Amino acid sequence: MKTTNEIRSDFLEFFRGKGHTIVPSAPLVPANDPTLLFTNSGMVQFKNVFLGSEKLGYVRAADVQRCLRAGGKHNDLDQVGYTARHHTFFEMLGNWSFGDYFKEDAIAWAWELLTKVWKLPAERLLVTVYQTDDEAFDIWHKKIGVPVERIVRIGDNKGAPYASDNFWQMADTGPCGPCTEIFYDHGEHIAGGPPGSPDEDGDRYIEIWNLVFMQFDRQPDGSLVKLPAPCVDTGMGLERLAAVLQHAHSNYEIDLFQRLIQAAAQATHTADLDNKSLRVIADHIRACSFLIVDGVLPSNEGRGYVLRRIIRRALRHGWMLGQKGPFFHKLVPVLVEVMGEAYPELVAKRELVEGALAAEEERFAATLDAGMRIFDEIAARSQGNIAGSDAFKLYDTYGFPADLTADIARERGLGVDMAGFETEMEEQRRKAREAGSFGNKASMPAEVAARLAPTEFLGYDRLTEGGLQVVALLREGVAVDQLRVGDEGVVILDRTPFYAESGGQVGDTGELDEAGTRFLVEDTQKFGGQFHGHVGKLTAGTLKVGDRVLGAVNEARRAATVLNHSATHLLHAALRRLLGEHVTQKGSLVAPDRLRFDFSHFNPLSDAELAELERQVNADVRRNYPAEVHQMGMQEALDFGAMALFGEKYGDQVRVLRMGEASTELCGGTHVGRTGDIGLFKIVAEGGVQAGVRRIEALTGQGALDYVAQEEQRLDEAARLLGGNAADVADKLRSLLDRQKKLERELDALKAKAASGATSDLAGQAAEVRGVKVVATRLEGFDAKALREAVDRLKQQLGDAVILLAGASEGKAALVAGVNGSAAGKVKAGELLAHVASQINGKGGGRADMAQGGGDDGPALSQALAGVAGWVESRLI
Ligand code: ALA
Repeated sequence: MKTTNEIRSDFLEFFRGKGHTIVPSAPLVPANDPTLLFTNSGMVQFKNVFLGSEKLGYVRAADVQRCLRAGGKHNDLDQVGYTARHHTFFEMLGNWSFGDYFKEDAIAWAWELLTKVWKLPAERLLVTVYQTDDEAFDIWHKKIGVPVERIVRIGDNKGAPYASDNFWQMADTGPCGPCTEIFYDHGEHIAGGPPGSPDEDGDRYIEIWNLVFMQFDRQPDGSLVKLPAPCVDTGMGLERLAAVLQHAHSNYEIDLFQRLIQAAAQATHTADLDNKSLRVIADHIRACSFLIVDGVLPSNEGRGYVLRRIIRRALRHGWMLGQKGPFFHKLVPVLVEVMGEAYPELVAKRELVEGALAAEEERFAATLDAGMRIFDEIAARSQGNIAGSDAFKLYDTYGFPADLTADIARERGLGVDMAGFETEMEEQRRKAREAGSFGNKASMPAEVAARLAPTEFLGYDRLTEGGLQVVALLREGVAVDQLRVGDEGVVILDRTPFYAESGGQVGDTGELDEAGTRFLVEDTQKFGGQFHGHVGKLTAGTLKVGDRVLGAVNEARRAATVLNHSATHLLHAALRRLLGEHVTQKGSLVAPDRLRFDFSHFNPLSDAELAELERQVNADVRRNYPAEVHQMGMQEALDFGAMALFGEKYGDQVRVLRMGEASTELCGGTHVGRTGDIGLFKIVAEGGVQAGVRRIEALTGQGALDYVAQEEQRLDEAARLLGGNAADVADKLRSLLDRQKKLERELDALKAKAASGATSDLAGQAAEVRGVKVVATRLEGFDAKALREAVDRLKQQLGDAVILLAGASEGKAALVAGVNGSAAGKVKAGELLAHVASQINGKGGGRADMAQGGGDDGPALSQALAGVAGWVESRLI
């Protein structure tokens, strides 16, 4: 029987033998392709090759590609666990021709591999072709010899031209073409009909291989444009094929899944290996682990939200199996065992995967149980459908993604009012937006915004500019005609060199001047999204709408700020190089005196990593790359290799900042001329902001030098105090600490000696009460531990004895009482201690033979001690 590992290599070897180049699997996150959420088939990495905009050094390729169909055009998430053959994550075996061979070879080789190499019986195979594809039909029938009754023509069966099971397309736009599919007949004992028949959805005939004849590029308007050359794109589901070759019917019975299901059963303490939830968990651990390997982390938007949904679904299935604690991340080692050989990147990122999953498990565990109780209440009062507001409550308060609620509802025969849910979501977004703009100092009266053109920004290359016209003035959020001396307000100009805060970079400060009039700009903010508002105070003259002013940005402050902005880009790029592609920007502050950068990453950075980051950024500084700005279209920018933040909205035309080989990023901010301007980059702090987000703070230029000088000064001072120099400070300190330790040991020994001397004295002075020795006294400077030792020694020295010792220090007294020998039956140490403590504002207690406590040190203590002998006597009578 073939293992999945063997099937992968058989496939690649077969096509290597047919002149194909073997290429590695691309990541699940397509490189710079915003039209696609995930790699959903093998051809994604070749999209531009089909379109003709990219050339490779070969025209035939084959690979095993990891794919995800959850979210986006191809979405199988809802089917997982309910059928024998759907997965979120799966592996696709594929072979490609880029304008080289076409239908004839593609079909002949597929047949050869299936029937000759893997020896599948021809009579169990059945094929489909696109309705009008006579060429493919003839190849199957005449060249291969498949009887006509096992060749099914499928037309446009999805309600539109070219919308067909036999017309494949990668997404709503992009490469597409007619296809021919090969099906395997699992046998009469399984329900289902052949493709094209009414019960084709049954599990008897399973599609195993799809051969697509790529001929067109679908445009956004739906029309088809011919590709430069016809191509072949094939895809065979590894799991389905393994099921056939391993004589199993369900994909979940293949070797790889059996191991995962066993591991899931063990982690959830489940005995029944056929439980559907185990399959869901086994499927989801693959999807989630590989998403994390490929740089996605759980979040509330975009790809991160798809990941979160899949994880939460898996956790809910664990919960159904009675598993309340974390279990999901424990499957990672087994996944590494079964798939690590084919995917070394999984082995390399194992710790990141475990950490990210464990953190998400912890987060959801806090609300899952309570959420399920609320769900039960909601389900009990729902008829047919769960209301949108209830689904929203589960989402908002308990972290249940809507499709998770729908999944649970489906099990109870209920639906969910998804439209109602969306309405609630929209309402929440609206409120959040309003809350964001309410009282916002940067809000702009609508009537003013309506009559103005967006401010033209001159400040990329000029910091001072005359003849700027005042087009609006605001005071306390209201438009006014003029500002007078002493007024605080906002000045809007037609053009300005002042940068308004955005992308983390703080707004500029400076002055606006006109003969006799001066407005001090304390900050610049974007008002109404597109007007640079100069926020500040009029310190001389009067400023009127229509006036022309000279704008002068505070140059030193801006110059310091740009160093930090450019350094932020270098840091971002270095982080991705050093830690991996999962690092994305989560927030940033670029100020004149420092930079702060928040990014997704799970573990604190080690000192070695921080040192390496600093080293790499400073190396890029010294390479003195020019900072070039390019204006271009979004797609062009992505092709150019620019880093864009997923889920961010960018305009049609974007500004790309490139600093040599070091960094290419979309950015509207202001930057250095060359990286060398940064001078020095110095990290001053690293820490966590929230689960999965780290923060680095750093300094540049003069700030970094000042910091280093200050550190040096501190070191010098320490060295001076130690009587040495900076070079031998550590040695000096080490020997000082050693000496201190030695002295402490000596001191302890002396103390012990003194204490035992003190107790022998005490033993001599003990009073005798009815045959029992009584000691009640105060010992200066004794702590509780020393008192206990003293009491133990006195017990030994005195035999029948009652002892109470008070160790006084700094206004407080520690008390220890002990009873030994014949007194034991009548006097209890705990009672004696409580008796004394109660007289000095204290408390304490303990056993019959030993007790401890404390109270205030003062005159009352002496009295209390003096009364001990009498108290003991009263007990002994
Ligand atoms: N791209 C084709 C598919 O995914 C082969 O089915």
